Amino acid sequence: MEIFQTGTSLLERKQFGDDFLYNFHGFWFTLLFLQGTQELLKQFKPLPNDVILASFPKTGTTWLKSLLYAIVNRSSIDELTRNHPHLLVPQLELQIYGPQAISPPLFPSLDPSSANRIFQTHLPYQILEETVNSSDCRVIYVVRNPKDTLVSVWHFVNSLELAKTAQWPLEEVVDQFCEGFLPFVPYYDHVLEYHKKSMERPKKFFFITYEELKSDPKTHVKKLAEFLGCPFDNEELVEEVVRSCSIETLRNHDVSKSSDVFSFYEFRYNSYFRKGQVGDHKSYLTNDMIDRIDTITREKFQGSIFKH
Ligand code: A3P
Repeated sequence: MEIFQTGTSLLERKQFGDDFLYNFHGFWFTLLFLQGTQELLKQFKPLPNDVILASFPKTGTTWLKSLLYAIVNRSSIDELTRNHPHLLVPQLELQIYGPQAISPPLFPSLDPSSANRIFQTHLPYQILEETVNSSDCRVIYVVRNPKDTLVSVWHFVNSLELAKTAQWPLEEVVDQFCEGFLPFVPYYDHVLEYHKKSMERPKKFFFITYEELKSDPKTHVKKLAEFLGCPFDNEELVEEVVRSCSIETLRNHDVSKSSDVFSFYEFRYNSYFRKGQVGDHKSYLTNDMIDRIDTITREKFQGSIFKH
């Protein structure tokens, strides 16, 4: 263990592959995300009509970005055919306040006069508490089964340019997830706090699972629209939103197939639409890995959210 100074904070940091992870309020960050987070906490003042999509990575963030964009901007759903969801709904700590942030004009949604600006974050409630409670902004949290989440993380990282020389073994990802040492981990603390807030303050916090959205997207899209104060009165429009945001539709747009790299980080446009299936972990995790994760899930969630 080593202590690292950033700004006025002294943080614990530990080696993570060729890089380091920094412990900030009990969660682990790479330096880039940590710097963006510290900037966000200093500068971001949400407006009362803002919508903040929060999630742990690889839990369906891109899907929710497209759905929220389509629900709020239903007269311009076709923007999704031309723009990557990540350029329609920016990530606060990366695209707005990160060291490689893009200047705001790229995001029409950032205009302070727009009715509902939509932002995204991977930050836990424990870090964002003061920020999100400083206005009447609304928060939507998407969560996904931990086993599918970690398999998706594993695929995503191995698809990155930097993984071309050395692939990340699945055993190592499982160990790091279970030991609570990956970016944005501990997953369970991340999920539980937003879940608690959604029970305490359901008008401000909306909690949704990837799995329930998959099993009945129309019902949940209607619930999301009601929560945002813009309910649908037209069933066909709900169907259009669901269809426009399905993985089958989104992955076929030229922008989603592009191997270009975003200017704010070395992620490729085409690395966000893989399988999008519930239970995909069964093709990769051994029974021992599944038992190990299930035991932690039962202990942490105590029968709420996911039973295993
Ligand atoms: P898989 O790797 O299991 O396929 P995030 O957007 O938080 O990075 O999550 C990525 C995961 O969501 C990937 O899961 C990806 O395939 C899936 N995904 C992306 N777009 C989706 C959509 N429109 N519908 C359902 N799943 C989607």
